[in-house]
This record gives sequence, C-alpha cells and structure tokens, in this order.
Amino acid sequence: MAGKGVSRFGVSVPPELLTEFDETIARMGYDRSKAIQLAMRNFLSEYMWKYEEEGVAAGTMTIIYDHEVKGLEESLTDTQHLYRNIVSSAMHIHLDEQNCLLVIAVKGKVKAIQNLAKELMSKRGIKQLKLATVIS
Ligand code: NI
Repeated sequence: MAGKGVSRFGVSVPPELLTEFDETIARMGYDRSKAIQLAMRNFLSEYMWKYEEEGVAAGTMTIIYDHEVKGLEESLTDTQHLYRNIVSSAMHIHLDEQNCLLVIAVKGKVKAIQNLAKELMSKRGIKQLKLATVIS
C-alpha cells in the first residue's frame, strides 16, 4: 500500500468518453482527481464482490418483496437470525398494499454476505434484491 501524498499517472481514453466524463463530473461538482478516485474505489468494491471471497465488506441489501406470500416474512426473519453475525440492522418500509421494502445493513466476510444474498433471493415472493457493498 502506498504511503502518504499522491501519485500521478497518465491515462489514454477516447475523446468522447472524456467529454462525457467531464460534463458529468462538472454537474456533480467533482474535479477529475476526485471523480477518478471514486471510480477506482467503486471498481475495487465491485471486483471484490464478484471475484473475491476472502475479504471483509460492509453495505446494504435492499429487498422488495410481496408481503402477501404466506410465511415469507417469518422466513426472512429466520434467515436474518441465522446470519446475525453479519446482519447489523434492518429497516422495514410498507411501500403499498402488497409490497414491502426491507433494507438490511451487513458487515462481515464477503463469502457470508454472498451466502445471505443467495438464501434471501431463493425465497418465493422476493421481487428484487440489490446489493451495495463497499470494501472496509
Ligand atoms: Ni410491510
């Protein structure tokens, strides 16, 4: 790992990509250095999530499910109890008559987070599951 200070490097990109990038980051109020740092961190998080199983991560699982499916809410709670060593907290929002939004904060081994996501996804009545993890 590098020490303090900054490292500078040159990058070659197609001009139209750079134009779009500059216009986008200007709207966000970022300069190139800050935007590239953010993009690099996101890339590393994404890479770790997809290809690494050893590391530790933190983040959220956002789930939309049908609360009219019999037994689903109890099953979701049972699974969170099983994975209590990585589940930090959960928030439940009643979206409409039928749909609930569940946000589960997780922190722990990547492999365990992956297993939790797989187990939740396999339940009948789960409509969407999105993961947002960062490397810690
Ligand atoms: Ni609800």
